[in-house]
Amino acid sequence: MAEKDEIFKRTHTCGELDIKDLDKEVTLMGWVHSRRDHGGLIFIDLRDRDGVTQIVLNPKINRISHEMAQSIRNEFVLAIKGRVSVRPKDMINPKLTTGEIEVYADNLRILNESRTPPFPIDEYSEVSENVRLKYRYLDLRRPSLQGNFILRHRVVKRVRDFLDKKGFLEIETPFLTKSTPEGARDYLVPSRVNPGKFYAMPQSPQLFKQILMISGFDRYFQIVKCFRDEDLRADRQPEFTQIDMEMSFIEREDIFLLIEEMMVEIFREIKSINIDTPFPRLSYREAIERFGSDKPDIRYGMELRDITDIAKETGFQIFTKTAKEGGKVKGINVQGGGRFSRKELDDLTGVVMEYGAKGLTWIKITEDGYQSPITKFFSKEVLDSITDLLKGEKGDLLLFVADREDVVTNSLSQLRLRMGERLGLMDKDKYSFLWVIDFPLLEYDETEKRYIAMHHPFTAPRDEDLHLFNEDPARIRAKAYDLVLNGQEIGGGSIRIHQRDIQEKMFNALGIDEKEAILRFGFLLEALQYGAPPHGGIALGLDRLIMILLGAVSIRDVIAFPKTQKAICLMTDAPSEVDEKQLRELKLRVETI
Ligand code: AMO
Ligand code: AMP
Repeated sequence: MAEKDEIFKRTHTCGELDIKDLDKEVTLMGWVHSRRDHGGLIFIDLRDRDGVTQIVLNPKINRISHEMAQSIRNEFVLAIKGRVSVRPKDMINPKLTTGEIEVYADNLRILNESRTPPFPIDEYSEVSENVRLKYRYLDLRRPSLQGNFILRHRVVKRVRDFLDKKGFLEIETPFLTKSTPEGARDYLVPSRVNPGKFYAMPQSPQLFKQILMISGFDRYFQIVKCFRDEDLRADRQPEFTQIDMEMSFIEREDIFLLIEEMMVEIFREIKSINIDTPFPRLSYREAIERFGSDKPDIRYGMELRDITDIAKETGFQIFTKTAKEGGKVKGINVQGGGRFSRKELDDLTGVVMEYGAKGLTWIKITEDGYQSPITKFFSKEVLDSITDLLKGEKGDLLLFVADREDVVTNSLSQLRLRMGERLGLMDKDKYSFLWVIDFPLLEYDETEKRYIAMHHPFTAPRDEDLHLFNEDPARIRAKAYDLVLNGQEIGGGSIRIHQRDIQEKMFNALGIDEKEAILRFGFLLEALQYGAPPHGGIALGLDRLIMILLGAVSIRDVIAFPKTQKAICLMTDAPSEVDEKQLRELKLRVETI
């Protein structure tokens, strides 16, 4: 029987011991990962963050009661004292660092019991994500998930050290603040002491970091939570983390150099991979023209080609009509896609239709010539020149969409992604960084019937485009840039406006009149008048970067306590209703709809 007053003090973790520790007296603490009763001998895999160690209990020869040994179940928390022994040859597990040893327990204490968990803590069980999220603390016991957070910690540590070395200061900015528009809705927090007034949770620290430049901090960074009430997807959460940076007296090229160096260091230290620099660059326009996307995955080609000029001259009415009405006809070449069945081609039509296209035209290049439902409308010469343009060869499949330009671009870009995935062109071991530059400053919002900032309203226009504020705002290019990695936007930034008059012009272009500008951004306009240095910066999406480093498919795998698509935390059940009393204090009333 374990002596009640015997002191158990952990000497090692469950992932630490190996053959070098033979015969050591050790104390381990952890969770019962599994338990195998071999009549007389009981084997326990004891697990903690660091690994798993096999424990052998022999109630006959040591001080552990049979009853106690029998009562142990999965996920019980144990403290075990024992001696490190070598495992019999046939029981060696080369997959574990502790696989050559086991600990013969001579004393044991049950530190806590556990109910049978709603799902086994392993990597194989098929359990719905909702159940996993409700019992997040159990799911987080899985070694693979723990590994994600260990890696996340290491990346964050590297980033802090790297930026510190480069002279950056980490400065915190408020969470209870005023709206900083980044294109999403704000999360609002009512103020009790100022009834009827609300704080907004920051969508990013954008204005504070600019103001820190005006204060002379020169180089700022923050690993910071941002809050955005937007539609959630696999790579978006309502609260997420940015590596946020701002610098004074710099130009775009300085930021590119810094970020490239940081990425090289992270990939070298965390993944032992060499990343080539400088990263390639594409203008926004070229990215859209060639890939149909402002965040193209450039691990593979399959670029969009414009065949509108050729399409005009064919007898295929859909093409000629679209071209005549100012639309576009574009295509991609799916190399080796000639083997796709009729059914598969119909499915592809479904894909483009999801994105608003009315149909999809295909041409297969076979041994015996062209095969397509519409070959009858094309002469051999026309088909040859289309094939030439798309660099088609025997066995390839050419796919075309005719429509308004944005529909063509969007639907073909989605099709290109599906095809890339399907044909295995997205090499998991390849990391293709890309800077997308020269974004337009503004884009027209059809629903709001006004211009909105493509990045945010504090982004500087290119100097040579300044005059366009009066002539043609849509043509102004911004000093903005995005960092794209394997088709995901992992960062965005810009050189900022540091002169009040230009900032006012920008607000004006966005349809924000003087009164509203003062109301919402008066503090910024004022600060800009007190010696604002030229400055710029960038923010990287930390969660997305970690996802890519891990090859994770969901952002929820890299956030300890994530929310569902409906922005619910299934573990705590937030958001939830609040007390009448709290509402009264806030002078709020909830209207039931
Ligand atoms: P931006 O809005 O481009 O820029 O955000 C920067 C990066 O943050 C990541 N990100 C997200 N990650 C997870 N969930 C979300 N909901 C989400 N939204 C954005 C993306 C994105 O590239 N203040 C500017 C930066 C600047 O100009 O310096 C900003 O926030 O990876
Ligand atoms: P239809 O004349 O509607 O039977 O269409 C003939 C072929 O053209 C079918 O294979 C359609 O999928 C395709 N198609 C229809 N609309 C478009 C379009 N906008 N762009 C490309 N192909 C289309």
